Amino acid sequence: MSQFLDISGLNARIDADGQEKEILRGVDLVIPPGEVHAIMGPNGSGKSTLSYVLAGREDYEVTSGSVSFQGKDLLEMEPEERAAAGLFLAFQSPVELPGVNNANFLRTAVNAVRRARGQEELDAVNFLKTVRAAAKELGMSPDMLKRNVNVGFSGGEKKRNEVLQMTLLQPSFAILDETDSGLDVDALRIVAEGVKRLRSPQFSALVITHHQRLLEYIVPDRIHVMAKGRIIHSGGPELAQQIDREGYTKFLAEAA
Ligand SMILES: Nc1ncnc2c1ncn2[C@@H]1O[C@H](COP(=O)(O)OP(=O)(O)OP(=O)(O)O)[C@@H](O)[C@H]1O
Ligand SMILES: [Mg+2]
Repeated sequence: MSQFLDISGLNARIDADGQEKEILRGVDLVIPPGEVHAIMGPNGSGKSTLSYVLAGREDYEVTSGSVSFQGKDLLEMEPEERAAAGLFLAFQSPVELPGVNNANFLRTAVNAVRRARGQEELDAVNFLKTVRAAAKELGMSPDMLKRNVNVGFSGGEKKRNEVLQMTLLQPSFAILDETDSGLDVDALRIVAEGVKRLRSPQFSALVITHHQRLLEYIVPDRIHVMAKGRIIHSGGPELAQQIDREGYTKFLAEAA
């Protein structure tokens, strides 16, 4: 049987001011169904780029390699099709949408995915009930649902809002790209709890992070080290502590 997510020999580049820049250089990564994997690695190693390529951002050109998602060619799918197929991406820096009401935005996103899955759309009243309950569980004030999407939200509030989106969309595969700063212990817990609550045989996730603490809460099935555009080492959850103690030097030397 084909793996849930199978990335093989993935090369991708970006056109940076007229110059082609190779960023992903042969990424190999397999995530079986029901597993949560993490990627750690030095700044600039291509972690966020990998998440953008998986989400289908236009400015990246895949030059070789393949990505199969639930047996389909992910790279052939439009970004909307990827979302409808159950892919969810939480960006490193969530976008602010001035003039767009947060609750309306969430309902539009949820209903678009429900339509694509052949499920009935939620009406405004039912949706508000669901979203209020979910927001409460995440410790968000009801006021945040009335505000414009992410506008003026603090770093931790944006995180909660992303986890709220993820909870409501019920993706089959989530990619979470975490910032290396600005997340307090509570925000880390919220992200970790959000992932833990979704854990099931029907849910897989890829968590990109610099936080050993976050991985202590989540306890991923596998941790991968990315450097210079590829995965150079993989191990069990204990790898996080080793990286925290020793850094990446050893892995970089081995891969050189
Ligand atoms: N639009 C762009 N133009 C030029 N270079 C880019 C562009 N996007 C990414 N890069 C470069 O690609 C490399 C990989 O960036 P990426 O954001 O994927 O790294 P990362 O592993 O997520 O780093 P961090 O841990 O700091 O978040 C970096 O050297 C970055 O400067
Ligand atoms: Mg990044």
